[in-house]
Amino acid sequence: MSTKSQFGSKIGLIAATVGSAIGLGNVWRFPAETQANGGAAFLLLYIACVFILGVPVMLAEFSLGRGGRSDAVGVFQKLSPGKAWWIIGAVAILASYLILCYYMVVAGWTAEYLWQSITGNLYETGTSLEQSGDIGAADAAFAARMNNYICSDVSPLIFTYAVIAVNIIVLLGGVQKGIERLSNIMMPLLFVLLLALCCVTLSLPGAGAGLKFFLSPDFSKINAGTVINALGQTFFSLSLGMGILITYASYYPADTRLTRTSVIVSLMSLLVAVMMGCIIFPAVTTFGLDRHPLEGATLVFVTLPEVFAQLPATQLWSIVFFLLLFVAALTSTVSIAEVSIAFMQDRFKMSRVKSCMIVMLPLFVLSSLCSLSFGSLSGVKIFDMSIFDSLDAFTTNVLLPMVSMGVCVYVGWFAPKSLLKSQITNDGTIKSRITSIVLVIIRYLAPVLIAAIMISKFV
Ligand code: PHE
Repeated sequence: MSTKSQFGSKIGLIAATVGSAIGLGNVWRFPAETQANGGAAFLLLYIACVFILGVPVMLAEFSLGRGGRSDAVGVFQKLSPGKAWWIIGAVAILASYLILCYYMVVAGWTAEYLWQSITGNLYETGTSLEQSGDIGAADAAFAARMNNYICSDVSPLIFTYAVIAVNIIVLLGGVQKGIERLSNIMMPLLFVLLLALCCVTLSLPGAGAGLKFFLSPDFSKINAGTVINALGQTFFSLSLGMGILITYASYYPADTRLTRTSVIVSLMSLLVAVMMGCIIFPAVTTFGLDRHPLEGATLVFVTLPEVFAQLPATQLWSIVFFLLLFVAALTSTVSIAEVSIAFMQDRFKMSRVKSCMIVMLPLFVLSSLCSLSFGSLSGVKIFDMSIFDSLDAFTTNVLLPMVSMGVCVYVGWFAPKSLLKSQITNDGTIKSRITSIVLVIIRYLAPVLIAAIMISKFV
């Protein structure tokens, strides 16, 4: 396939891969997990998981993608023709598409909050309550706002459709002119926004106490459950098991150093998580908002607006934060949509435009169902959960671990013997001392730990 697209520059391919990894996992999942699991103790555990497990599994996905130079199904068919291993890729595509359906809705929420920050509507009621010291009432006002918004039928749909439309525009541009260009602009922007917010929160009066919680480990909180959470966070946050890294690596030039790329991507993702910790813990401690668990959606849509309401230049910081969140979500949605688009394009030899439309247009219906599952469709239950929650649970608890397990077993035991080695060393042109360690991890340690995650989800 000589016409296969490639990223145009080293910076571009790193920006795109980092863009995929940095998402809501870093911004709201990480602080919540850290608060629940012993602060710095969880951070240390997470760092260990990222390097011991995350980097090797990422290398396995990169090797598949660049070694097979095809979509997530095609790589298995090329490397092991006539065998059934392609099913792993098919599950990855299914998982990524299901995630896409509900992630678009969440990305829509971030867009709406950005818009409401720009217009100032977000702070109409809560701010005065907050400033008058009636924290309970302010809390209730912001929480009610989030509930009213998420559970209403029309406006979340409008914002979800807008995000789908932006995705289509980017994805129609293809790998270099669409994804790479977007990432080259958005990733530096994301870091600038993060730095600005860090400066503000670190100068708050409660910064010391907040940082103390975040950076002093309480090892008594570490148990088997914490380890499982850290492992789950590693897989989700590094975008493993979604077919994204396989697809992106198929666009890497032959001279890309895979080990270096995987370490840079992991470090950047970690850095963003740590910076988010430096933003959130000082902020919630200063304003006494650490009394609630820092749960995902509530953290970003209720707790943080409460923080901004008490800062001078409320609107500015709110815009900065929701822009950051939107950028993080957008580069992730683009990466996960590309998995299915690449599949359509490679498999059915379709044009970019056609494959893009076939993948993206159904989202207007499917994401609507997810969004309405908080409103008119809240009565529709699958396994006792709303449409949105059941998709989330089914993908993160079942499909993603299955794919990661499949990738490790295949690359570790059944792929052509030289795949990992030749990919890590760029066909022997660069030295690598870690190939055998990576192989041991992929063969033994990773499958055992992934099995532990799977079992724990059902017990
Ligand atoms: N790593 C991403 C995150 O942290 C995971 C993800 C990627 C989710 C793409 C959805 C789409 O949010």
